[in-house]
Amino acid sequence: MKNIGFLLSIWMLFVVSLTGCGKEQKAARDLAVIPRPVKMESPGGTFQLNKETRIVLREDEEERKGVANYLSQLLSSATGYSFEVSVQDYAEENTICLELDPAITGASGCYSLIVSDSGITISAPGVTGLFYGVQTLRQLLPPEIESDVLFPDMDWTVPTVEIFDEPAFLYRGLHLDVSRHFFPVSFIKKYIDLLALHKMNVFHWHLTDDQGWRLEIKKYPKLQEIAGQREETLVGHGLEEPFIYDGEPYDGYYTQEEVKEVVKYAEERFVTVIPEIEMPGHAQAALAAYPHLGCTGGPYRTATRWGVFPEVFCSGKEETFQFLEDVLLEVMELFPSEYIHIGGDECPKTRWEECELCQTRIADENLKNEQELQSYFVHRIEAFLNRHGRNIIGWDEIMEGGLASGATVMSWQGEKGGIQAAKMGHNVIMTPVSHLYFDYYQTDPEGEPLAIGHFLPLEKVYSYHPVPDTLTTEEAKFIVGAQGNLWSEYIKTPEHAEYMAFPRVVALAEIVWTPLENKNYKDFLQRLDVHKRRLDVLGVNYFKD
Ligand code: ACM
Ligand code: ZN
Repeated sequence: MKNIGFLLSIWMLFVVSLTGCGKEQKAARDLAVIPRPVKMESPGGTFQLNKETRIVLREDEEERKGVANYLSQLLSSATGYSFEVSVQDYAEENTICLELDPAITGASGCYSLIVSDSGITISAPGVTGLFYGVQTLRQLLPPEIESDVLFPDMDWTVPTVEIFDEPAFLYRGLHLDVSRHFFPVSFIKKYIDLLALHKMNVFHWHLTDDQGWRLEIKKYPKLQEIAGQREETLVGHGLEEPFIYDGEPYDGYYTQEEVKEVVKYAEERFVTVIPEIEMPGHAQAALAAYPHLGCTGGPYRTATRWGVFPEVFCSGKEETFQFLEDVLLEVMELFPSEYIHIGGDECPKTRWEECELCQTRIADENLKNEQELQSYFVHRIEAFLNRHGRNIIGWDEIMEGGLASGATVMSWQGEKGGIQAAKMGHNVIMTPVSHLYFDYYQTDPEGEPLAIGHFLPLEKVYSYHPVPDTLTTEEAKFIVGAQGNLWSEYIKTPEHAEYMAFPRVVALAEIVWTPLENKNYKDFLQRLDVHKRRLDVLGVNYFKD
């Protein structure tokens, strides 16, 4: 008997520990928020959404109503409940209340989210914070909430929580190269939706490059007719000779109407679209359309393989600046963002060295060399954009020959350029190839689709911190954030773009939002396991290890 009693108590212990463990696992599943909030406490218990649950605003205000309607739509499809939005200034049970509260203080986008067993309140000093509170709430619900198909038997519970949250960095960006391969508006919208889900706030749209100009410019129609097309495309890797081509014409560009639609869509998701118009290098497609803007006068053709090409805009010709200013005027009409990215990377100087007009410019402007000519070019474009109330971002090569006064530097060749720029008092966005180039392999290339090369696994992305140790506290303030880049030489389809971007973007989201002291890779991986189910329901083709 004694033995049986002993065995029984061991068995009870086993069962208790199993259920305890199950509870913990369930809690982990329920609180799998990414990026991890600054403070999150869960007293236990749940709030249950039902067909009577309403969304409440304290005041009738356009932008807040936009967020409320967004939430209502987000919750309606899978639940089948209507989530009616109403305006009332008194508290009531079974509501999701979105309210502005100036007493909540923190970085731009901060919010508080309180879920009790009788209702949910999201409060923030601004509407951006309300939107981020909604993103967190979404992640506290079962992943099936993302479905546009009804789940009639699902238990739509939210764990009770008290959250205060704010971003660590102001600039939380993701880039997409649509020149090397073109991506349809439907995918651009999905990309923006995924940015919003992860509380990222900048979509950097790389619209022009040697292999294709992808933006309609009314004053220069040959940009879409000629620069938007290439005769064929390289097959295989860009470093493998002999080059083999597919023989198939390739084209695509966004109309101005489509761009407006994307910008509005992004705005409703608190994402700023920053367009990039490459200059003075990576301009071969533009030169194919308007050859008089190159040093030799051409003829040129839109590039059909990958690399860095010598054909760049002539810095000696006034026509070049006239053209770019005209283009930028239309760009500014389309994109309200404070920043316009003007490229500036990888500009060989060989044509300038041989060009009489470029050499005359160097002499007339008392420049020392072609590096300073590049700086002259960038300064001049910066001054033009400044006159129109805009500021420039450029890749770190814009520092060559002297940095334009108000320029923000995007540090891609490592952190060195960014460190130097921060020490000079310039804003910096970190996007080093070593940690944030999502066109790199994420596992052993064997069995993977062809990529540019290198190796960037998820853990390495997660380990990145945008502020280098070598900066003082004052200098560190100039590091405004970080960005992941997705270059598309080897990425032809939306599905492949998703495969390269995810889940590395999910790690990036935590780099730029979560305070360093809250970051923990093991904990991240546990939350990611749950998050992947959400990505599944959203139809994201992420890399699976
Ligand atoms: C770059 O990767 N050339 C900015
Ligand atoms: Zn020239």
